[in-house]
Amino acid sequence: MAEPVYPEKDRAAEAARLLSGPEWYRHAIFYQVYVRSLQDSNGDGIGDLPGLISRLDYLQALGVDALWLMPVMPSPFADSGYDVSDYRDINPDYGTMADFDALLAAAHARGMRVILDLVLNHTSVAHPWFQQSRQSLKNPKADWYVWSDAPGRPDIPCGPVPTFGTSAWTWDPVRGQYYFHRFYPAQPDLNYWNPDVVAATLDVARFWLDRGVDGFRCDAIGALYESAAGCDLIPETVAYIKSLRQLLNAYPGRAMVGEPIGFGSEAPFFGSGQDMFQMAFDFNYGFLWGGYLNGASAQPIADHFAAVLQANPPGAQNALYIDSHDIRRAFQAALGVESHLRRAALIQMTMPGTPFVYYGDELALRPGSEVVVDTRDFARTPMLWKEAPPALGRLDFGWGFTTGRPWIAFGAEPDSTNLEAEELDPGSTYAFYRSLLSLRRGREAFGAGSLRILPTDDDSILLYLRESSDESYVVVVGMDEKAWHTGLAAGANLPGDAERLLGDAQLARTGTAAVVHVPPAGMGVFRVR
Ligand code: GLC
Ligand code: CA
Repeated sequence: MAEPVYPEKDRAAEAARLLSGPEWYRHAIFYQVYVRSLQDSNGDGIGDLPGLISRLDYLQALGVDALWLMPVMPSPFADSGYDVSDYRDINPDYGTMADFDALLAAAHARGMRVILDLVLNHTSVAHPWFQQSRQSLKNPKADWYVWSDAPGRPDIPCGPVPTFGTSAWTWDPVRGQYYFHRFYPAQPDLNYWNPDVVAATLDVARFWLDRGVDGFRCDAIGALYESAAGCDLIPETVAYIKSLRQLLNAYPGRAMVGEPIGFGSEAPFFGSGQDMFQMAFDFNYGFLWGGYLNGASAQPIADHFAAVLQANPPGAQNALYIDSHDIRRAFQAALGVESHLRRAALIQMTMPGTPFVYYGDELALRPGSEVVVDTRDFARTPMLWKEAPPALGRLDFGWGFTTGRPWIAFGAEPDSTNLEAEELDPGSTYAFYRSLLSLRRGREAFGAGSLRILPTDDDSILLYLRESSDESYVVVVGMDEKAWHTGLAAGANLPGDAERLLGDAQLARTGTAAVVHVPPAGMGVFRVR
């Protein structure tokens, strides 16, 4: 038997080492779950926690290390759960607290972590805190929300977050005042200048940490405080986040990811790199990659990641995603071009950061067309697990998601984008995701290694090097679907010969230069040494 080109590490052991260490979140692959749309277990057409538990084996086999659950707390659902009416319970549509505990136990038994969406900027109008606050100008919670006689206040120069309406103030006939909301009118902002609100919301975090969750995705966290000086991540909000981090630090192995509001740098969410968020979503890559990757030039992508590294403090880790519940399905952002989608995912898995896979990404799930809550529902349709038997009317088939009537119509092209069909096709998006996720697994260089962009003389080729203390990987991404390209990276100074682990590009060295040959829509990941 021939010797392997390079002695291979025991990747499973490496993965176990990296994922159990204090920086596990840098090496983990997160999977964002809309519980309502993943798996229904009782035929009411609504995905639920027992359904999610039944899919943990699937997620583990896919290579998922951690779950982010979109809000699972009781909610009137004016904003798909981002309008919480009870911070200490589970939405009955999704199950019970016992189901939640069972989910935590089942995930932990598989070495999988679970983080919760923590929506602290606002509650639902139905939350008892708001119901009490609105009763009168003087009651124990009168000052828990932000009230005003006029639809505006000089000390609150904040408009609504775009797409949530035209005014941030709504008249409440019960109290006879306006209340402030950055999001929908059904989501009144809490008044963080009130120390009782600070104590109560930190207590919510403590409640779930005590229950065993592995951390939080902090919703719209920059919006907590507002003052005449501004509305987003003002110093008081920064101080609150630091208290939250201190609380988190009291529980070993927990992590939190912050959701910025605008498109500025994520750097302010990291503080020193040790005292605020461990991760923050890279909105510029997440929202704008379609623009970068539907183009022909690799330069904007290279520039983006170089700028992120420049701006972020040491220890910061961006969270990389290519779609989410708030934006278009990745398939749409890629204009339906499969190779664009694959480039985006390859970059997501191999550039510095932690990948957050949105449920259905692995199938290139197509958008839906029905609106139940709001137009973001287009990206929130149920998973497609099973093929429809040819004899069955497609409309009545639950695609393995439900035995009943789904809460929302399935997205387009369910015949070709269900798991069963994609599992049988070695060229499917699913097959590609399997290989990508396993490529990242147990390779420290991708989670925490350094980045060196290797400029080539061909603008359509993105070339970069990721290195940990003892391993080096080269990633090649071609931006042209039609023609072969050859790129020369002078002075690349690669450590040595290349072993291709993924893709179809070729990599060679001449002296200190590297030469890459990239087929149409080509890509490659190489281990070099
Ligand atoms: C975040 C969520 C979004 C929600 C909003 C208000 O941006 O991602 O879905 O509508 O916050 O909570
Ligand atoms: Ca159900």
